[in-house]
Amino acid sequence: MLEIVENLIAKLVNEVDYPQAMELFQKLSGGKRLRARLILTIAPSAPQAPLLGAIVELIHAASLLHDDVIDEAQLRRGVPSINATHGSKTAIMLGDILYSKAFSELTSFDSRIARTVAESVTRLSIGEMMDVGMAESFNSDRELYLKMLYLKTATLIEACAYGAAILAGKDADAHATYGKNLGLAFQIVDDILDITSDEATLGKPSLNDFSEGKVTLPYIDLFERLDTHEKERLIRYHAKVLDESEKKWIRTKMDTFSIIENSYTHARMLCDEAINAVGEDIALRSIIETVIRRSH
Ligand code: FPP
Ligand code: MG
Repeated sequence: MLEIVENLIAKLVNEVDYPQAMELFQKLSGGKRLRARLILTIAPSAPQAPLLGAIVELIHAASLLHDDVIDEAQLRRGVPSINATHGSKTAIMLGDILYSKAFSELTSFDSRIARTVAESVTRLSIGEMMDVGMAESFNSDRELYLKMLYLKTATLIEACAYGAAILAGKDADAHATYGKNLGLAFQIVDDILDITSDEATLGKPSLNDFSEGKVTLPYIDLFERLDTHEKERLIRYHAKVLDESEKKWIRTKMDTFSIIENSYTHARMLCDEAINAVGEDIALRSIIETVIRRSH
């Protein structure tokens, strides 16, 4: 089924009828296609489900192209980012082509689906803006962080689940709640992996979030547990490239206070809320397990 989505994605990019766009698009690594998988899982026999999956994956790819420009990231999924190989201008324009094509295709959907997906893109853009603003100083406000996470990551996944449920004639609000909590858990696991994984697994340097200025949930939790001197030390390490001994200090302190376990517990709690919203469902449970157990 996912192959149908891959073929549709290629077809849509071909339809923009600009060979350079296709050439550049082929350089992107497709990733896990979590959003398309989710749509196909909720609406396996809806004729429009693969197209919705392709649309959302194009939007997601566009958002990552722009995000890598904003973050000045050199690597994406283990391969050099488009901004690194072709420059920021090209990365932005490719992103523009992909998401505008996605929006054109969205017009053929039920207006509730089209509106929800479109609004989620406004929200993810706001989430990105908040993320950038929050990275300018050491943010220790957990609620603000979780709000930003919801906007930046969960809102598009929520829209996927909502749209797919409408296509399948299922309870759209319940599935939206599932998608929202799945999205939040996904991002929290992402935050954890940035700390626990090595560069080879991540496809980018480890503890990269904190170096980029992003005070993710584990750092907020850690900050709350540290004494005054240690708090100052953690703030000194914020938004700079860390050497091995500085990384070791952060990881050791996280071990001392079981920070990673606590973050996993938080993610698990969100997963339980996700499942509670839709009722036990083997396929939706299995998506949750892949999100929680993933290593990259
Ligand atoms: C990754 O965050 C970024 C996002 C999930 C969303 C980015 C959204 C925009 C740039 C808004 C523009 C939207 C469109 C459709 C053009 P991250 O930097 O925390 O994750 P990373 O480690 O994967 O880079
Ligand atoms: Mg980024």
